[in-house]
Amino acid sequence: MCSPAFSHNHIKEMVPTMAIPAQTLGKIWEGRVDASENGSVEFNVALTVPGNEVSQAYHQLLTGVSLTTLMLRLYVPFYVDVPFKHNRIRKQSIQIIEQVTAKIIQKKRARILADKEDSEDGKDLMSILIRANEQIGTLDDGRLTDTELKAQIMTFIGAGHETTAVTVTWMLHIFSTHPDVQRKVRQEMLRNIGLPTEDNKCPLSYDALNALPYLNACVKELLRFIPPVPNTSRVATHDDKILGYDIPKGTHIVLSAAAWHKLKSVYGEDAEEFKPERWMDPSSFSEEEQKSIKFVTPDMTWAYIPFLTRPRNCIGSKFATIGVKILLYYLLMNLEYAPVPGFKFKKSPRFVMRPDPGMRLIVKRFQHDTHVTY
Ligand code: HEM
Repeated sequence: MCSPAFSHNHIKEMVPTMAIPAQTLGKIWEGRVDASENGSVEFNVALTVPGNEVSQAYHQLLTGVSLTTLMLRLYVPFYVDVPFKHNRIRKQSIQIIEQVTAKIIQKKRARILADKEDSEDGKDLMSILIRANEQIGTLDDGRLTDTELKAQIMTFIGAGHETTAVTVTWMLHIFSTHPDVQRKVRQEMLRNIGLPTEDNKCPLSYDALNALPYLNACVKELLRFIPPVPNTSRVATHDDKILGYDIPKGTHIVLSAAAWHKLKSVYGEDAEEFKPERWMDPSSFSEEEQKSIKFVTPDMTWAYIPFLTRPRNCIGSKFATIGVKILLYYLLMNLEYAPVPGFKFKKSPRFVMRPDPGMRLIVKRFQHDTHVTY
């Protein structure tokens, strides 16, 4: 029931809806820069929504505890019921998320039943899911109960929010340390899409954004270089033998994108470098340049698992990729990013790979040169 909501056609229609918060965020950041004394301001670009209780609740759930606690919760039955402070916070967070999700479903369903189906604001993922469910007659036909629908939507928010947010945060970090990459992405956007117009009409479309080869390569390379979901695991359902190793039924097997993506045997000696060119069409480079790049070929993609692989790969991969591109467009058109001298962070691999303690960058207005044709 959920898969059609993530289809090409639906995601295409969602672009203007996704652009609204992205544009708002861009404007907020531009406002902070304009309000500063010297036109440049240093702040944490990690995408969170201060004061938003759901955002905070998910943050608590996904990052607020140590790795040991996460393991205990996963493997020790009833551990979550022991009244430690972190377990109480976990319960409260789940309660907040459940209540807010239930309210959203109620509100959106009321709009759908009131026949507002043609309105632009019904083109978001939740409305599409609720509408699809309403159209299924009975539970026997596969209709989800309210509890199931709520659980699905909570999963989408949980699986989609932090992952997409850290992808954009890490991309801005890469822009700050690779000014040439930042310049090329902005230039490609300006040349092919142009600046947002004053009338606030969305200049973006799914096809236009996906037709930008350098941006595509940067997003693919970012997901290789710093996979937002660094590790996941599976449990063997039967005894097996893999590459000579006995794998007894019940073995937990960690699949580590963070490790596979850096395999020099696959990606070459420069696997530890951020090089979007490896994802591009070799014919766009001179023969001399081609010799210095190890291009990604289909036989290498077994070692590329930012969204895992079928059959249970990420249902939201297309949704996430276009969301990241939309955010980058609005954050890059009028702003530029530089590293903060001396700022130290580490990569913190929990469910998602977050920068700890955040990602501080220097943000300035990008000065458009009116004499340049992009
Ligand atoms: C850059 C952003 C994202 C990354 C890197 C990512 C990564 C992943 C990965 C690695 C898995 C497999 C986990 C496992 O089975 O062990 C997964 C599953 C999943 N993702 Fe994403 N995800 C992203 C965004 C999203 C978004 C935006 C949504 C929804 C709107 C979403 C919804 C899901 C769901 C529902 C699953 C479970 C699918 C299933 O088991 O059938 N994800 N994701």
